[in-house]
Order: sequence, then structure tokens, then C-alpha cells
Amino acid sequence: MCGIVGYAGDRQALGVVLEGLSRLEYRGYDSAGVAVLTEGKIAWAKRAGKLGNLTSALKESPPLPGTVGLGHTRWATHGAPTDPNAHPHTDCDGNLAVVHNGIIENFAELRDELKAGGHLMTSETDTELVAHLLEDEMAAGPAEDGSLATAMRSVCQRLDGTFTLVAVDVRDPGVVVGARRNSPLVVGRGDGENFLASDVAAFISFTKDATEIGQNQVAEIRAGEVTVTNFDGSPGAVRDFTVDWDAEAAEKAGFKWFMAKEIAEQPRAVAEALVGRVGKDGRLVLDEMRLSDEELRSVDRIVVLGCGTAYHAGMIAKYAIEHWAKIPCEVALASEFRYSDPILTKSTLVIAISQSGETLDTLMAIRHASEQHSRVLSICNVKGSSIPRESDGVVYLHAGPEIAVASTKAFLTQLIACYVLALYLAQVRGSMYPDEIAMALDHLRAMPNAVEEVLERMGPVRAMARELAGERCVLFLGRHVGFPVALEGALKLKELAYMHAEGFAAGELKHGPIALIEPGLPVVIVTPPPADMPVLHDKIVSNIQEIRARGARTIVLAERGDEKVAPYADTLIELPPVPPLLQPLVAAVPLQVFACEVADIQGHDVDQPRNLAKSVTVE
Ligand code: AGP
Repeated sequence: MCGIVGYAGDRQALGVVLEGLSRLEYRGYDSAGVAVLTEGKIAWAKRAGKLGNLTSALKESPPLPGTVGLGHTRWATHGAPTDPNAHPHTDCDGNLAVVHNGIIENFAELRDELKAGGHLMTSETDTELVAHLLEDEMAAGPAEDGSLATAMRSVCQRLDGTFTLVAVDVRDPGVVVGARRNSPLVVGRGDGENFLASDVAAFISFTKDATEIGQNQVAEIRAGEVTVTNFDGSPGAVRDFTVDWDAEAAEKAGFKWFMAKEIAEQPRAVAEALVGRVGKDGRLVLDEMRLSDEELRSVDRIVVLGCGTAYHAGMIAKYAIEHWAKIPCEVALASEFRYSDPILTKSTLVIAISQSGETLDTLMAIRHASEQHSRVLSICNVKGSSIPRESDGVVYLHAGPEIAVASTKAFLTQLIACYVLALYLAQVRGSMYPDEIAMALDHLRAMPNAVEEVLERMGPVRAMARELAGERCVLFLGRHVGFPVALEGALKLKELAYMHAEGFAAGELKHGPIALIEPGLPVVIVTPPPADMPVLHDKIVSNIQEIRARGARTIVLAERGDEKVAPYADTLIELPPVPPLLQPLVAAVPLQVFACEVADIQGHDVDQPRNLAKSVTVE
């Protein structure tokens, strides 16, 4: 989820682009770069790290005059966050520069073809291929009009995957060309100037008149003209609109909180977490699996580590790994792990889950595991962070930056990564037939819509938040994978509403916690699907009756149409039917929304809750 800006007008492009990038830095801050058409050539600069590194470097170098240019802040997917991997990328002769947001799935075959054609690659990125593909198209000219837009349309038709691309070329001066598929691109229309951007935050300090670029379309912006075509060259239908947000709100895409935005991003994040997971041969592939199939087949035990939300994801991973891969699996709090004198051998696989990749508890835990010669895989959102760097293999979330301290889209994409990893292990070890794996993948591919469906029905949850905002305690109950969901719901309410909240395995109620039940006490219960888990379902219905008999206010999350549990729900939150193992993907969402709403009603800073940091880099 990178930040992209393009400009063509009568101002100095560099200043406009840098201001736009500063508005988009929340979208990615691994590296940044700019390119300006100046004195008949492309002048560019790029630096790893935050945007400040680039602006400092630019201050030290000669000015880059010019009124046409582009810029990029990166959220790394392919290639570590280094200077060479930063965008923009240029062709062999430096005649053009291109920036990219997304993942090009067929980059390996394109790279081989370009290398065979004599192109020199200078980075590890998939983006650089586009620069060389455009080079060939521009050289093959004259295309109908020899224009960069014509070249871009041709190249886009060769790409698989998701992309927003923006490019400039000295042979077609005065124009900035953008293209998109499954990744955002919007035009800002000014007076004698025009903008391209990954979101409106980049240009609304200049103009609030915008045009949405549709799927598989190319946009050409010049100082006084905007042209939109489809990839086949036909005129593109577009939607003009006026932005009614201020600049700060625009970074949140109009949401009041980053957390609310990130909750809303979850359907797309879940979909993107599944992109590129299946190779041409239909077999699962992972981002950076540096362990051989042989090594994975020798694994006789798995330990999943994490903290907070990541730990809850690990608890769900256990069910998937044991069910699909048939490998004994345990879950441990990273902060406890190395002090528990764990039994670790070279046949133990440790899986570390961490959104930030910098949580010191988790980093120290995997170092301990490595010292015991165990193999380490990490599931992480931040490319090039410490934990992936010290792992033997990585599954990246591709969720884009998660700004709010309370983890939401990272949690759901951690689950996706855990499911994919469990299926990968099943594939390597032969514990599932290929058609069983394929069916499980089909169920996963249906989850973005299921999450979307839940988000569309949050009215009762918001009403409940208004009713319960003044409560001093809420309990959460669940069984099987519903138990970690209960823990996650309690954690969200604790960290956002500063309210006492506790999650329990529902079966534990009678072993003590039921003494907490008193009239009016809100209890949230995550109910398993009735058809797939009838025994557990009946037990949790009994639990609900027990607490209701003692006056609890029951808030029941249940599959739509679950008539058996409905009579015992004071508030019923319906979930779309999904396979039992995948239910956390839909059950967690109402609990995220509930906590976010309660905190907002209480007047708390939802994105920056008191006492908390986004990444806990101390033990
Ligand atoms: C979750 O909402 C919290 N922000 C916190 O529990 C977090 O999940 C935990 O600190 C682990 O962070 P990590 O995933 O970056 O390692």
C-alpha cells in the first residue's frame, strides 16, 4: 500500500510531489523517491527509510527544476527496503521513470524474458520490470502516436496481479501517465495543473476536484488536459467527484480514526493476503520460504509464538496446523517462552507472529529458538524488519501499514497467513489431498466477501456500543477457535475503552468465572456453527442459558439462521455461514467495531490509546 504522486502543471513539480508524499507517508515509509523532467532529461533521487531521508538528501544536491514529475513512498513487498529497491525505477538508458503500488504476480517470467533481451536489472523489485517493458515499447515505436500512454496500455496487458503504475518519459515531455488494476488511482483536476495520486490526500491542498480512475484504465495528465482510456485504447468512462474532507481527514480516507479505516480495509486486506499464494502449477507458494520441503517434512513439533493479538492469532493457527498438517502444535506467549525452559530440537519449527516484526519479546524468543538449532518461520507485515531478517522463512501479510495501535487488519491477515502456512505444510507433508487443499483455498477466497457482509451489518453493534459505553466490565466467552476470538474481543475493549474485560473458554465457566455473573452484566458469547459443530454448539447454548439464568445480559454472535441460540440472546449479532476454522475472520470484526465505537463514545484517542505503543520494542 504505497503512496504515489504525479504532477503536470505550472508549479515546480518537486515541491508539489514532496508535499503530496508527506500526506501519504502513512501508506508506506520503507523508502521514498522522486523523478522530475528537467532540462530534457529525467532527474531522480531515492532513499531508503522515511521521507525525511530523501528530503535531506535533496537539500544537499543541486535543485531539480521542472513542472512535470512523480514521487513514491514505499511499503515493501518485493525486495528489502534499500536505496536500489526504492522507487522510482528507470529503464536502461534513463529515459523514463516509473513508480508502482501492488504486486506483479508474473514478475519472474517477465524478468527472465527481459534479462534474455539484454536488459540490466539493478534492483530486486517487480516494479523495475515495468520500466524495461516500457523501454521496449517506446523503442519499438513509433506506436500509433509513439506516446507513453500507448506504451503503458500495451505493458499493462502483459501484467498479472495488482498495480497502480505512474510514469514519465523524456520522449513524451509534459505528460504523466498512470494505470491501475485492483489498486487505487485518482486524478486531481486543477486550473492549469493536474495531479495523479494513490489517494486524494496528496493533492487536496491544491484542488478538491477529482476523477476516479476505473479498473484497467490509463490516465494521462498534462498541465491543461486529462485523458482517460481503457487498456484497449477506447475512451474510458470516469466518475468525477468533489472531495469534502480536509487534508488530515483525507489521510484517513474520511474516517474519523485510522482504526475505523483499517477495519473497513479488511475485505481488501484479506483478499490481498491471498494474492500470489498459488503458483502456475496450482501448488501453494510462500513469500520467502528458505526451508526445503525435506526440512519441513522432518519437523515433528511446532511452537507458535506471539504477543497480544498476534498470540491470539497463534492460538487459531494451532487448530489449523493440527487439523490440516497433522503436526503437534503448541502456542506460547513470546514473553514467557524462553523463561519456561522449552524443549527445543532441530526438528522443532518455531512460528513467530508479529505485525511490526520488531516486538522485542518475540525477537528474543526466536533468538533463543535459533540458539537451540530450531528452525524459525515468521508471519509479519513489515518487510525487512528484525524478526523476518532473523527467520529461516517468512510469510508476509501484505496488509499495508497498520497505523492504529489496536491491531485489526493485521489480525485478520495474520489468520490468513496462518491458514495458508498450515495448508502449505499439509501440501509438503502430504497430509491433505490436492483437491482438499484447493477446496480450503476456495473457502478462503470467499472470505473477503464474508467480511464485507459483516461490515455492512454493524448497526446493532453500534447501538450496543452506545448502550454499554458506561459499563465497568464485559466478559467474553467462546469455545474452540471462538475462545481466542473471545480473548481478542476482550483485549480490544481493554486497550481502547480502558474497561475491565476478560475472555474465557466457555467450558471454564463452572470452574470459577460463573461467580462473576450478576444481573445486567454484559457477556459476549461467540457461538460455533450449529451444523458443523453440533456438540460444541449445544454446550455453548447451555452456557448461555446458565449465565442468563443468573441475570447476565447476553450478546450472542451466531451464524445467521441459528434458531437454537436466538431465544437466549438479548442482542443477536448474525455472522455469515463460513467453515468453522475460518469463523474467527468474521467473528472478530464485530468485536473490533464494538471496542472502537465504545472508545469513541467515551472520548478516547482511538488510534493512540493511553500507555500503549504500536510496537513494543522493550521487554
Ligand atoms: C493489539 O491490538 C495490540 N496492539 C498488541 O497486543 C499487539 O498485537 C502486540 O503488541 C504484538 O505486536 P506485533 O504483532 O507487532 O508483534
